Amino acid sequence: MENMRENFLWGGATAANQCEGGWKEGNRGLGTVDVIPWGENRFPVMRGDMDYRQLSEDSYYPSRDAIDMYSHYKEDIALFAEMGFKCYRFSFSWSRIFPTGEEEKPNEEGLKFYEDFIDELLKYGIEPVVTICHFDVPLALVEKYGSWKNRKVIDCFMRYCDAIFRRFRDKVTYWITFNEINMLLHLPFMGAGILFSEGEDEKQVKYQAAHNELVASAMATGLAHRINPDFKVGCMLAAGNFYPYSCNPEDVWEGLKKDRDNYFFIDVQARGEYPAYARKMFEREGIKLETGPEDYEILKENTVDFISFSYYSSRCASTSEEVVLKSTSGNVMKSIKNPYLKASEWGWQIDPLGLRITLNTLYDRYQKPLFIVENGLGAVDKVEEDGSIIDDYRISYLEEHIKAMMEAVDEDGVDLLGYTPWGCIDLISASTGEMKKRYGFIYVDKDNEGKGSLKRSRKKSFKWYKHVIETNGAALK
Ligand code: BG6
Repeated sequence: MENMRENFLWGGATAANQCEGGWKEGNRGLGTVDVIPWGENRFPVMRGDMDYRQLSEDSYYPSRDAIDMYSHYKEDIALFAEMGFKCYRFSFSWSRIFPTGEEEKPNEEGLKFYEDFIDELLKYGIEPVVTICHFDVPLALVEKYGSWKNRKVIDCFMRYCDAIFRRFRDKVTYWITFNEINMLLHLPFMGAGILFSEGEDEKQVKYQAAHNELVASAMATGLAHRINPDFKVGCMLAAGNFYPYSCNPEDVWEGLKKDRDNYFFIDVQARGEYPAYARKMFEREGIKLETGPEDYEILKENTVDFISFSYYSSRCASTSEEVVLKSTSGNVMKSIKNPYLKASEWGWQIDPLGLRITLNTLYDRYQKPLFIVENGLGAVDKVEEDGSIIDDYRISYLEEHIKAMMEAVDEDGVDLLGYTPWGCIDLISASTGEMKKRYGFIYVDKDNEGKGSLKRSRKKSFKWYKHVIETNGAALK
């Protein structure tokens, strides 16, 4: 086998809303993530079925303080550097830079915070990979315009992009416009700040918001390239193929349709136009998009430089009612249980070969460089009496996935820029709001109720991953 490319971007990934905290620091405004509670109301709020303004005063909002990376970032980055990270993927909090989304000028304190943060990464030679929007919208834009339902938000997003592209023109190369853009179909409030009002046609609203985000993403890509032609701008999807549950052609067709729901976004961002199957679906379902005169040209002229994605699991599709009833719980995107796979404690099915299949499918489909920007195992960790954490289950999950990834590169010729496992430091779970569901190489002492010293410590996987990086993956061959 050949080796991985020399400048392969090994690293880790997090998002502001799940680790930064400091929700009231530095003139930051409120974001959607600050009003998503922990507990039984979490999913209704994330789906946009329950208005966050109906929540009781004593609700607990885990993202507000998270793991307080706002104050601990120097210590955290030093630990990433110790592991040998070549890159670090993180996101900016939009409302830290534009507190209401509509200020004339960006909030200098917010920009300065990210500048110091980025300088700290660069000090260790760690390449920043910035997600512009990872599940957060300034709350004021939700209240005033209904968030991405309204084209007005495109202008607000562009003002935000203009400010950050100019400020970090010489410090950041890799940008990702929207995290898991397809999440807006599944969890519309969490994914895009969308709240449904009574009688609203949900599908119409979702695809209108999707169109607005797609145009914003293309405009941002164009702007980025004008500000610095060396910028690399990517799109991002929650990936994982749907396997037909059986070889019944009905199941194969069902899987293909479900895959298209997710590829739809990337088809537009990578190829620059709405795919035929989507146009037909809009016609069939009576979906009418409100568009600007230049939207289609903008989409056409500003396709992405790379395609990034998260991969945790594959899924199964079937048309048989009996089979569908066997759906696993715990997944945001529900999947039928695959009898050939084991699952995590949260019901996420573990399928390393599925990563190779996903890499090949995406590369065949788009022929653009790929970037795995999330992968990992959410698990409960036990702190031993001497303080150590022996997370062999995490090591084995990552080892199998990294091997599958290297096979896709070495044997199938997939062009892959990097690999950033999710939650390289323990953080708040996006779906459940828990701390107990941990992904990190670095343990953070905090529990589901928000109690703990926030002390950071190295798990067994810390040393293991360091070795993988220093051998450029060869340690696993
Ligand atoms: C992806 C998101 O959906 O999966 C992350 O981009 C998220 O924000 C990750 O944390 C893992 O999901 P969870 O629900 O285990 O946190």
